[in-house]
Amino acid sequence: MVPLCPFLYAQGVREKEDNMCGIIGFTGDLDAKEVLVEGLKTLEYRGYDSAGIAFLADGKIKTIKTKGKVEDLKKKVEETSSDVTKCGIGHTRWATHGGVSDINSHPHTAGKVTLIHNGIIENYQDLAAEFALEGIKPVSQTDSEIAAMVINSFYEGDPKEAIKKAVGKLRGAYAFCVMFEDVPGVIYAIRNGSPLVATHTDEGSVIASDMVALIKYSKDYFVLPEHKIATLTNDGIVVDDLDGNVVEPEMLHVNWDIAAARKGGYDYFMLKEIHEQPEALRNTIMPRIKDGIVDFGEDGVPDDIFKKCNRIVIVGCGTAMHAGLVGKNMFEKLLRVPVSVEIASEFRYADPILSEDTLVISISQSGETADTLAAVRLAKEKGATTLSIVNVKGSSIARESDYVLYTHAGPEIAVASTKAYTVQLAVIYMIAFRCAMAKGKAGADEIKDLVNELKKTITCVENVIKYDSQIETISHMLDKATNLFFIGRGLDHALSCEGSIKLKEISYIHSEAYAAGELKHGTISLITDNVPVIAIATQQAVYEKMISNVEEVRSRGAGVILITNAGVTVKPQLCDHQIILPKMDDRFAPFGTAVILQYIAYYTAVHRGLNVDQPRNLAKSVTVE
Ligand code: M6R
Repeated sequence: MVPLCPFLYAQGVREKEDNMCGIIGFTGDLDAKEVLVEGLKTLEYRGYDSAGIAFLADGKIKTIKTKGKVEDLKKKVEETSSDVTKCGIGHTRWATHGGVSDINSHPHTAGKVTLIHNGIIENYQDLAAEFALEGIKPVSQTDSEIAAMVINSFYEGDPKEAIKKAVGKLRGAYAFCVMFEDVPGVIYAIRNGSPLVATHTDEGSVIASDMVALIKYSKDYFVLPEHKIATLTNDGIVVDDLDGNVVEPEMLHVNWDIAAARKGGYDYFMLKEIHEQPEALRNTIMPRIKDGIVDFGEDGVPDDIFKKCNRIVIVGCGTAMHAGLVGKNMFEKLLRVPVSVEIASEFRYADPILSEDTLVISISQSGETADTLAAVRLAKEKGATTLSIVNVKGSSIARESDYVLYTHAGPEIAVASTKAYTVQLAVIYMIAFRCAMAKGKAGADEIKDLVNELKKTITCVENVIKYDSQIETISHMLDKATNLFFIGRGLDHALSCEGSIKLKEISYIHSEAYAAGELKHGTISLITDNVPVIAIATQQAVYEKMISNVEEVRSRGAGVILITNAGVTVKPQLCDHQIILPKMDDRFAPFGTAVILQYIAYYTAVHRGLNVDQPRNLAKSVTVE
């Protein structure tokens, strides 16, 4: 066995992905129950329906699991187990197959096999039917228990052989951590799609679905290559391919530390992450500015891809897609090249028209979103060049794209995306600047001016963060709302989309983002007394038209919160509250506006007594279709 040390690992392999729960495994010298429960707390944002652990004690594998939060699991563990253990696996669930119940919680056991699973086994019903013929019935409704049954059915004393044969029968996405009752102190792991990262230190070996659970132990880690089996022991981690050859995965390093993965005195991660935006922007923008212009040399992104493209397609989901909507505006203004922004889940089934001169830019915080990943694969298949904007190093989208520009936001834990969005805006603007230069559409002086404006967004965001208490007070206007509208024109319409999703996902208030000029073609009939309208009017070119649209909703009784750039005065009757951005070039107003919208969503959810970081039905990383 070779202990896992960074210097032992050379270049790794590039693979693909898919999942939606949090998993962790530990074997070593520490109290495994504590490692697992603490690890699950950090991973809870990946799914929070139920949680469980399994561990080795007195020569047996014991399982404790419950529906509810990791805190409920922690209590149950404290109440029911005084076992001392050094090896175990843990899981926090976002239900896909089988309702939320104790029995459906992970880990699942079949015979000598106990496992946790992240992903979806698509052919589990067929496999269950095969077992049924032999009179073997699962106790839960999950696809994961069937996977445990399959592994157990192949187990004849050689864990790797059983896993190898079992994965040959499974169709779908998975990350498994598996323990065998007669192989104490060892955890086996394999993945197809769903992520798994691992590290070994003097204290033992840890594997998890996300680096946030490993950072307590090390900043160096590796992504388990797909279809390879990791064997974790106290002494190290060995990775084999399915033919038994040892593989050396590529070691990666993160430049953030444990404080980034903790709330650090804030009530919620979302609030902490709103406050982290100036630093995230600084880390993302500044290293890429050389002699006043954008330079992607260190990212390895060549100008050729910009020179040869005559069409740009931006793909992403949710907030990431909304960042693309803002980017489109900057690209088209600077380059006069057609840009379309596509919802990744639609794009992949739309038979899109792509060619070698199309640049497909995918945007994803996690780098694991299944639909976005599929869009990247499709774009590559069709011969387009793929460039991704991703926050998580070594993630699937980053590895599978031709080129990647990382955002340096550090870990984003709250389900509602905040800092990831503003840094995505920064990178997409930088791509537009570099592309404009490469194509000869803008000279160095013009780009230097734009870069200067971009740098000012850091201070702008710093200043808007200080609006905290003002926006908290204003947000009380939404306390009782059941329905509301975000309206804007041009760039502000793109921001309306972002404001609306943020509010919906954490406050559960129904809202719609509308192009302000379009309201009068139908939707204005929904505006009645006191329906709140959040009107964004930061763009001088359409300001007067926008104000007319605000007048229209105001005269029908709407309660209006108006967001404007500095330097405009509005008549007091026009709105209930005006929030004024620090003076910015209009094209860069989205950065400050985004923070205002994040605060509105945040405080509205807080006033309603909701769990801001863990909104119902959602999980951070959406890796199912
Ligand atoms: O990890 P990704 O950026 O690919 O995630 C995309 C969306 O799922 C994500 O932005 C989602 O819309 C957020 N929860 C919104 O706040």
